[in-house]
Amino acid sequence: MKQTNIAVIGAGSISEAHLKAYDRNSDAKLYAICDLNVERANAAARKYGIANIYTDYRELLADPSIEAVSICTWNNKHAEMAIAAIEAGKHVLVEKPLCRTVEEALQIQRAVRSSNKILQIGYVRRFEPKAQMLRKFVDEGEFGDIYFAKTSYIRRLGNPGGWFADIERSGGGPLIDIGVHVIDIIWYLMGKPKVKSVSGNTYRQLGNRANVENLSFYKAADYDAGKNTVEDMANVMIRFENGASLLVDVSFTLHAKDESSIRCFGQRGGFEIEPELVLVTEKHNTILNMQPQTDSPGFQFDTAFQNEIDHFIDCVRQGKEPISPVEDGVEMMKILCGIYESAAKGVEILL
Ligand SMILES: NC(=O)c1ccc[n+]([C@@H]2O[C@H](COP(=O)([O-])OP(=O)(O)OC[C@H]3O[C@@H](n4cnc5c(N)ncnc54)[C@H](O)[C@@H]3O)[C@@H](O)[C@H]2O)c1
Repeated sequence: MKQTNIAVIGAGSISEAHLKAYDRNSDAKLYAICDLNVERANAAARKYGIANIYTDYRELLADPSIEAVSICTWNNKHAEMAIAAIEAGKHVLVEKPLCRTVEEALQIQRAVRSSNKILQIGYVRRFEPKAQMLRKFVDEGEFGDIYFAKTSYIRRLGNPGGWFADIERSGGGPLIDIGVHVIDIIWYLMGKPKVKSVSGNTYRQLGNRANVENLSFYKAADYDAGKNTVEDMANVMIRFENGASLLVDVSFTLHAKDESSIRCFGQRGGFEIEPELVLVTEKHNTILNMQPQTDSPGFQFDTAFQNEIDHFIDCVRQGKEPISPVEDGVEMMKILCGIYESAAKGVEILL
C-alpha cells in the first residue's frame, strides 16, 4: 500500500508534535502544510521536506492528493475546518477541544456521520501507554466500579496569551484548554458514564499576571498579553447517572503551587495517574500501594503523540473507528459548556 498523504493545518506550537510523529510513521507522507503566517509554514516545510505550502486552508483541501489532515489551529476554526475537510473527502485528526460549543460539535458529528471518513480527536492522554495499561485493569474489574474521582490541573502561572486568552477564538480559559485533558482521561477510564449534571464556578480575579518575572510558561505562537477575556480558574462537580462523581479544579493562574493530580476511586481499589502512577487496594486486611513496573510511569509527551498519530494512520488505512471518536467530543462539549453555563447562572445544570 502506498503512503497516506497528510496535510497539517496550523504550524504553531503543537503542530511540531504532529509533524515529528508523522515524519516517523513510515505509512504517512507529509504532503502539505498551511498557516496564515507563511513564514511559519515555510519553516515547517523546510524542516520536514514538505513540498506544498498554503496560507488558505480551502485551497489545500481542494487538492485531491491529500487524504487526511491534522487540524492544529485556534479552537474557533476547528468546526469550520473539520466540516470542510470531511466534505472535501479527507479524514480528520482535530486537536482538542473538538470545538467551542455544543452546536458546533453536533454540526461536526452530522458531517462525519454523513460521510465515510474518520474523525479522531487529539485526546493525547488516552494514547499514553499507562492509560491503555490502566484501561485493562479497569475493564477486568480490578477496581470495581469507580464511584469517585478528582483531578487538579493547577498552573500558578500559565496563561498562554494570544488566541488562548481571547474567548472568541478559544471558547474559554483553563477549563476548555487543559481541563478538557484531565476530565476526558478520567471519563474515558471510568468507562464513559452518562453525565447527569454539572455545577461549576469560574473566577477572573488575578488576570494573566504578565507582570511576573523569572518564571517561563507555555505561550501561543503569537504571544500577546494585551487581551485577556477568559477565566483564571474553574472548579466543578460533575455527577453521573450511575451515581459516580468527579471533582475538578484547573487554573491558568492562582496563588498556589503548580499541581497535577488525577485520582480515581472504586469499591475494590483505586489508582492515581499523577502525580505518581500507583494502584491502591486492600488484601488480607492490609492496605497496599502497588507500583506498576513500566518504562513510562510519567507523562511521555513524544510517545503519547506518536501513539496518537500512529493510531490515526492505522484507522485511516484500515477503516477502523478511532478510540477518540466525534461522539466523545460531543459529550465533552456538553460537559464543558454546561460548566460555563452553571458558573454564569450560579446554579447546577442538568444535562
Ligand atoms: N494536545 C495537546 O496537548 C495540545 C497542546 C497545545 C495546544 N493544543 C491545541 O492545538 C491547537 C493549536 O494550539 P497551539 O498551541 O499550536 O497554538 P499556536 O497559536 O501556537 O498555533 C496556532 C497556529 O494556527 C494558525 N492558524 C490560525 N488560524 C488559521 C487559519 N485559518 N488557517 C491556517 N492557520 C491558522 C496560526 O497562525 C498559528 O500559527 C489548539 O486547538 C490547542 O487547544 C493541544
